[in-house]
Amino acid sequence: MEIRPPVAFVDDDAELRAANQQSLELAGFEVLPFADAESALAALDRDFAGVVVSDVRMPRIDGLELFARLKALDPDLPVILITGHGDIPMAVEALHNGAYDFIAKPYGAERLVQSVARAAEKRRLVLENRALRLAAESAEESLPLLGQTPAMQHLRRTLRHIADTDVDVLIAGETGSGKEVVARLLHDWSRRSRGHFVAVNCGALPETMIESELFGHEAGAFTGAQKKRIGRIEHSSGGTLFLDEIESMPAAAQVRLLRVLEQREVVPLGSNEHRALDLRVVAAAKIDLGDPAQRGDFREDLYYRLNVVTLSIPPLRERKEDIPLLFAHFSQRAAARFKLGAPELTADLRRQLFQHDWPGNVRELAHFAERCVLGLNPSEAPSAALPLAAVEASLPERLEAYEAELIRQALAANAGDVRASLEALGIPRKTFYDKLARHGIDRAEYAARKDGE
Ligand SMILES: Nc1ncnc2c1ncn2[C@@H]1O[C@H](COP(=O)(O)OP(=O)(O)OP(=O)(O)O)[C@@H](O)[C@H]1O
Ligand SMILES: [Mg+2]
Repeated sequence: MEIRPPVAFVDDDAELRAANQQSLELAGFEVLPFADAESALAALDRDFAGVVVSDVRMPRIDGLELFARLKALDPDLPVILITGHGDIPMAVEALHNGAYDFIAKPYGAERLVQSVARAAEKRRLVLENRALRLAAESAEESLPLLGQTPAMQHLRRTLRHIADTDVDVLIAGETGSGKEVVARLLHDWSRRSRGHFVAVNCGALPETMIESELFGHEAGAFTGAQKKRIGRIEHSSGGTLFLDEIESMPAAAQVRLLRVLEQREVVPLGSNEHRALDLRVVAAAKIDLGDPAQRGDFREDLYYRLNVVTLSIPPLRERKEDIPLLFAHFSQRAAARFKLGAPELTADLRRQLFQHDWPGNVRELAHFAERCVLGLNPSEAPSAALPLAAVEASLPERLEAYEAELIRQALAANAGDVRASLEALGIPRKTFYDKLARHGIDRAEYAARKDGE
């Protein structure tokens, strides 16, 4: 889906217009030629997907005035000005005011194409960030389970279908992949949402307690059971029982649970009373219980009983297209919480996000987004172990890391071009090279790369 970025080319000289149009089209751009600023202004809007190139000297509205009006329309729209010999001080002034670049006449086609290509890439990123921000904002209100990949869309559809049935559900997924989010949705999207959502972590309860916790007991059922206790299963009646880490449930409790699932009633420890239940069980496992090798001590009959419907949540590395949306969502949330700005998704950061394997899945990504918002070393490959230690980095360390990141971003945005990076950073050349050396940044790495991959 290669789309050709549009370039609005404004020049009152028909010959120059035609010549530049040809060079830009040869370089793969779609050119919209305009003979004056008025018609360009009439045609462009805030979400114009490309770059504006304009001659400075034109009758009526000149290039600088056009730039000023476009800037009011969208300050992020890149405008490249073409200037005659005498206009250079004025063009420099325009750069200070936010023009993307100026090109002095006479110039070669290559100079124009290069500048337009960089500006177009920058524009693409700005619009992508804008769209992501919008998507994350609107998604926030509507959905707790984000994701636009087919797997996630399918998962949401299935959830809608089965939420309000009483069918028991097994949720399979790696750590941090969203099992609890899914379990809660099954509850929230059902008439059972009026009842309790009772979560039991089968791995965290001591083996000696799990049965009385789950099934309840009569007073005197065992040593220490002074008072009668309603079990969690019974407490969930009319609502949803969420059995987390079901793979860690002790063998004796498994047998009892199987009976509860089959008979839809519970017999508290030390009692003969059968109490009928309006039960809905959602269990979650980090391993594939269907695989005998992984199942270990887990009872096969219980597995089959739970496996009426299994929802598998794919690990994040198998749905990487969802990463930008999730990142935008979590960084916005963190930015609001810490009262800081949300980081832009630069080409560099995007590449990092796609290269990483995310063994901690969505949870790991959420933590990474928080660290980015805090300006903590976001250029390093995210590591699951980092977050807490990194918060304790000293202010100078954080500033250093932030500076290095800004330089990397500038290099990435400008494909390693020194002049453009200097402009973007607003620092002298020598300072720039000193900083590259200090931070161990290799400019060549950025020059060789195709951005956005
Ligand atoms: N698709 C998603 N959209 C938005 N947030 C998500 C999504 N998936 C997971 N999260 C968030 O990621 C974090 C981890 O999710 P959750 O607790 O559901 O994972 P889990 O599979 O239960 O992990 P564990 O096995 O470690 O208990 C939570 O903060 C959750 O809100
Ligand atoms: Mg969980």
